[in-house]
Amino acid sequence: AGGPWEECFELAVQLALRAGQIIRKALSEEKHVSTKTSAADLVTETDHLVEDLIISELQKKFPSHRFIAEEAAAAGAKCVLTPSPTWIVDPIDGTCNFVHRFPTVAVSIGFAVNQELEFGVIYHCTEERLYTGRRGQGAFCNGQQLRVSGETDLSKALVLTEIGPKRDPATLKLFLSNMERLLHAKAHGVRVIGSSTLALCHLASGAADAYYQFGLHCWDLAAATVIIREAGGIVMDTSGGPFDLMSCRVVAAGTREMATLIAQALQTINYGRDDDK
Ligand code: IPD
Repeated sequence: AGGPWEECFELAVQLALRAGQIIRKALSEEKHVSTKTSAADLVTETDHLVEDLIISELQKKFPSHRFIAEEAAAAGAKCVLTPSPTWIVDPIDGTCNFVHRFPTVAVSIGFAVNQELEFGVIYHCTEERLYTGRRGQGAFCNGQQLRVSGETDLSKALVLTEIGPKRDPATLKLFLSNMERLLHAKAHGVRVIGSSTLALCHLASGAADAYYQFGLHCWDLAAATVIIREAGGIVMDTSGGPFDLMSCRVVAAGTREMATLIAQALQTINYGRDDDK
């Protein structure tokens, strides 16, 4: 019983694997790197190539669907989630890792209908791990069911975060002071791996207890949110309120208690909204 979006899900898996193969090969080759919103916000020809491949194949099969994708958004396309079936695509998550040949790089494809996330596919290109989550049908990595950690105590938590693209002194101060607050609360550790989607997959797998970030985008969050929820986890706003895909910020954890503790510890870093640009 695959559900009504079975055909879409199957194509998403196929395209993530195909894109992953291209990225894996390109990882060791010479790249042309450009910057976007800051000197640390990078893009390569492979980001564009992979995004064009994924979107054109999806469009061929599903011409009435809508698309939100990282490089199209960087070129000025609006990010609006309407009730229509909508694909939300990050062709290379961890572009900075990709540029440096640091082998933590993913393809992320999310799918929403009626503004509700239906499924997510995230492919760890170098380790060839395929993470999937479908609403009401569980989350899996290479066929193995995922389950989040049940930890509720911040002083026993392994916490993941990402730096985000802004590097001005005021932003960096807030970023570091948020990390300091969690370390003061005696979190076991705070990790930054360079790919928000793969960090969120570690959370879904129970390999970490919490994740938070300011300055990520809907294409970093769409697929991962379904995978975490289907693994039993919580995804919420950094204010402690309900999750908002377009808000450029998130707290996720294995338990509501843990997510709330993290949200309470954080100071807000303002990145605006994806649907406001
Ligand atoms: C970025 C990475 C990075 C995170 C950013 C993301 P990209 O995605 O996941 O770790 O800090 O917020 O936008 O640009 O490599 O697709």
